[in-house]
Parts: sequence; structure tokens; C-alpha cells
Amino acid sequence: MTPITASAPAKLILCGEHAVVYGRPAIALPLAGIRAHAEISPGQPGRGVRIRARDLRRRWRLADDPGHPFSELVAKLLAETASSDRLPDLNITLRSSIPIASGMGSGAAVATALVRVLAAYLGCDLAPAAISALVFASEQRFHGTPSGLDNTVIAYEQPIWFQRTKDEGRKTNDEIPASSSVLGPSSETQATPLIEPIIIAAPFTLLIADTGVRSPTRAPVGAVRERWQAEPARYEGLFDEVGALVTQARACLARGDLGALGLLLSHNHSLLQRIGVSSPELDALVAAAQAAGALGAKLSGAGWGGVMLALVDAERHQAVAQALHSAGAQRVIATAVQQHFV
Ligand code: PMV
Repeated sequence: MTPITASAPAKLILCGEHAVVYGRPAIALPLAGIRAHAEISPGQPGRGVRIRARDLRRRWRLADDPGHPFSELVAKLLAETASSDRLPDLNITLRSSIPIASGMGSGAAVATALVRVLAAYLGCDLAPAAISALVFASEQRFHGTPSGLDNTVIAYEQPIWFQRTKDEGRKTNDEIPASSSVLGPSSETQATPLIEPIIIAAPFTLLIADTGVRSPTRAPVGAVRERWQAEPARYEGLFDEVGALVTQARACLARGDLGALGLLLSHNHSLLQRIGVSSPELDALVAAAQAAGALGAKLSGAGWGGVMLALVDAERHQAVAQALHSAGAQRVIATAVQQHFV
């Protein structure tokens, strides 16, 4: 057997993070050039499935750690398709160029690559909705109460508008009902109620700057939930403001109004500060980008660390990138966003 490979992209939340957990819309983009990879090759006879996650510096036999979210994903897919109870002898290698715990969806991307490679090995043709639902279950193990945004944008691999129903945001994810989706078939386990493609009338460039501070998603998401429980009216109001600006951002994308989009992104950052998920490092990068002439800038993802994004035009691209480096960015990636990703 020659090795079988598959991959999945990183993602970036353009606007709407956190509020999306509580039923407001968000817009997210796949980053085609930054990917997680999975490979399956034959294992030693009698050794069963062995998983090696190179970036986590971990290697384990599925039978020795069946509760690991990746072990569970593999066992679930094999159980649904296997002809015998015995696990096949396989080596699965996972690697990723996506920084971990940085707001770029590394966990969901690795899980998606894993599901894709297993599907290829098993010869089953899984639709994006089915892949997304499997990865969502895995994300719940890592994140606690994910909205389903990461697994959806990564599985569909196109810019999306994403919205749960309002009530779902108030429940635990175990209670989320079957979804409806206009991009693909709905399924009993799909976690996302509304997924729509978005129109991007004018291509634009985002600079993504990494604070270098690793912040697992679960912590800020849990903190926001506690604050929302303590002060529901205040947080519902903030989430409403985020939802309103995301709706306006979609209209800006559809008419190619990048100036107005930039202002909305910066406003989103102010709201995320008030929600309590920014950090001194993120604020410094956002301020530096704005001062250097970015059309707008904000943190992206769960916050308290990880990455921020800056919307730049061609004239200010270099100056903003330089300003981000000077303000402490560990690395700066430029990504071109357009209607069809290649
Ligand atoms: O930090 P990330 O990439 O896992 O993004 C989290 C996005 C949140 O809206 C904060 C949580 C979620 O599940 O949507």
C-alpha cells in the first residue's frame, strides 16, 4: 500500500467571534496556503492503529489512549465501515504548519485532515457536511462549547456566513438539533444551522500577525460564558452590536467597500475588548496597524493571545507589515482574499 495523504486549511474569523457562540452571525475564511496534513501507511502486523501527532510531539497506540479525541475520531470511522472487530494495522501521521492555540483553527484543521485521509483509505466519499459534523464532535472535546464555525469553514473550504439559532447559543452543544445548510446537505449530526457562501466583490489583502502568545480556545470561551451568566443583559447587548456589524460587513464585502469594512473590523475589536478577550499584546498590534494606515484591524479567534488581522490596501501593505513587526509580531502572513480560493 502506498501512503495515502490528505490535508485541510487553516481558518481566519473575519468578524463575529464569541458572539457567534450566542447565536449571532460570523464571517470566516479558509486560508488555503496554511494547512494541516495527515498520512496513512501500513503498520507493523498485530500493532493496530498508531497515531503520531508530530506538532504535539506525541505518539500513541489507539488501544492505549482510546479517549483521545483523535483516537475517538479514528475508532468511530473504522467502526462504521469495518468488516471485522479487529483494528487494521495502520500508522497515521499528523503534521501541521498552523500555529497551535493561535486562533487559526489548528485543532479543527488537523481533525479534518484526519477524517479526510481515513475516508480516502476506507474508500468512502464523505460530503463536507458529514466531515464537519464528525470534526465538530471532536472540537467539543477540545473546546467545551464550540459554535461549529471552525469545523464548518474548514470542511467547506470557502468563505462563509455562519449562524446558529439564538436559542442554541444558550444551550450546551449536546442539545443542538439537526441543521439546515444551503451549501450542502444537512445531516442529523451537523452542528451548524445556517451556512451560506458570501459574495466578495473586490479582492482584498489581510495581514495576519501572531502575538506568539498561545491561548487555548477553551479558556476565553469559558470566561465569556461566566460573564454572560453573571450579566446577561450587558453581554447580550454587546453580542447584538457584534451581530449588527457582521451583517454590515457582509454588505460591504458584497459591494467591495473596503474602507467601510475596515471601520467595522476596528469596531469589532473595540467590542471584543469590552467582551474581555483582548490582551496587551493584541491591543499593541491592532494599534500599530491602525497607526500605520491599515483600513481596519482586530484580534481574530478566541483572543487572550493568538493572532490579529489587519485589512490593508496596496499602498500601506509594507508600512503596516513593518509596524506589526516593530510592535512585537512573531510573524506576519499576507493572505489575498477573493471569491474563489485556489
Ligand atoms: O480560537 P479559535 O480559532 O478556536 O476560534 C474560536 C472562535 C470562538 O467564536 C471564540 C468560539 C467558537 O466556537 O466559535
